[in-house]
Amino acid sequence: MPDELPHPLLQEDEEQSLCFRGPWAWLVLILICCIGIGLIMWLFRKCVQGPYYRKKTRIDGKVVIVTGCNTGIGKETALELARRGGRIYMACRDAARCEAARLEIIERTQNQNVFNRTLDLASLSSVRQFSERFLAEEQRLDILINNAGIMATPHKLTVDGFEQQFGVNHLGHFLLTNLLLERLKSSAPSRIVVVSSAAYICGRINKDDLNSEKHYSKFLGAYCQSKLANILFTRKLAELLKNSGVTVNCVHPGIVRTELGRYSIATHWFNAIWLRVFGCFVKTPKAGAQTSLRVALDPALEKCSGEFYADSMRFPLLSKAKDKEMADWLWQESEKLVGLQRENAVQTIVVNQ
Ligand SMILES: NC(=O)c1ccc[n+]([C@@H]2O[C@H](COP(=O)([O-])OP(=O)(O)OC[C@H]3O[C@@H](n4cnc5c(N)ncnc54)[C@H](OP(=O)(O)O)[C@@H]3O)[C@@H](O)[C@H]2O)c1
Repeated sequence: MPDELPHPLLQEDEEQSLCFRGPWAWLVLILICCIGIGLIMWLFRKCVQGPYYRKKTRIDGKVVIVTGCNTGIGKETALELARRGGRIYMACRDAARCEAARLEIIERTQNQNVFNRTLDLASLSSVRQFSERFLAEEQRLDILINNAGIMATPHKLTVDGFEQQFGVNHLGHFLLTNLLLERLKSSAPSRIVVVSSAAYICGRINKDDLNSEKHYSKFLGAYCQSKLANILFTRKLAELLKNSGVTVNCVHPGIVRTELGRYSIATHWFNAIWLRVFGCFVKTPKAGAQTSLRVALDPALEKCSGEFYADSMRFPLLSKAKDKEMADWLWQESEKLVGLQRENAVQTIVVNQ
């Protein structure tokens, strides 16, 4: 037998000294896999949640309105702004739900200056009543956050006969902002934040059927149109407010686990399973509020206006969202639909020239 060949017994010994065998080997392997998967999931979740607004910006005494803040992204936004010392006006359609959220915010922040006000964006008279009361109560308005929204609702009209997603998400906020504009200007530097959505990408302003009378598609049609309208409104308003000290920007909060999908056809158990399996792929409401918070608070953005933010970063817009002609058309059409005095709009432009 040649000398070079190793002895079979010696080979087995060597192998045994080099690696684990039996159940211990499996246990270690499973443990390493679990730690690896856990680490990847943790990193992934961190990425999904996006950056948090961590600057210590205080807004003591500053007056803030947040629409639709009894739940979801709006509630987390109001909570954080209250924590930072603002006088918060919670503008909600359901007074009882608003009160429950208000008490929770006061308890968690110890800020007593949090107020419950009724605002139903599906009713122009409610928007006018809210604005009148607010203007009588407060001499300043530093931050307006147009957050409230509905998505993919069954076809229904607002009190004034508008398709409800266009009516609530766009027209209600359009009127509200215009009615509060002079107060925002006299409180400058002040900010307006419009909560839009990346869903604008699928949207188109249907000039011939703005109100979805001929055809209704609840998500790709009405919702996406309303979110594109939010952006066109922001850009037109930024142009009108140039050099006024009031900035206006819009945000996409991310895909956030809120009640927004309440009108979807999915059953409760389907939603429960979906959330359990894919829950880590969506943001928490707190994470979803961070872009609104940065745009409302960050001193570095004091001069930024007419921009679109997502994950707290400025994002370029598709050309349809920068279409100046369409923005002008939509502005004029919205003025007519909500019955805004033409003189008011002209005044706004003249003041800024
Ligand atoms: N969640 C997401 O993944 C996501 C993604 C992109 C954009 N967004 C946008 O983020 C914003 C906030 O949505 P969310 O996810 O926080 O949804 P949410 O949990 O359903 O909250 C929406 C808020 O709007 C209020 N609201 C609805 N209709 C109203 C009306 N007619 N008048 C006054 N308030 C009204 C709701 O009040 P009630 O509780 O009384 O109904 C609620 O407080 C919306 O503009 C939405 O389009 C959300």
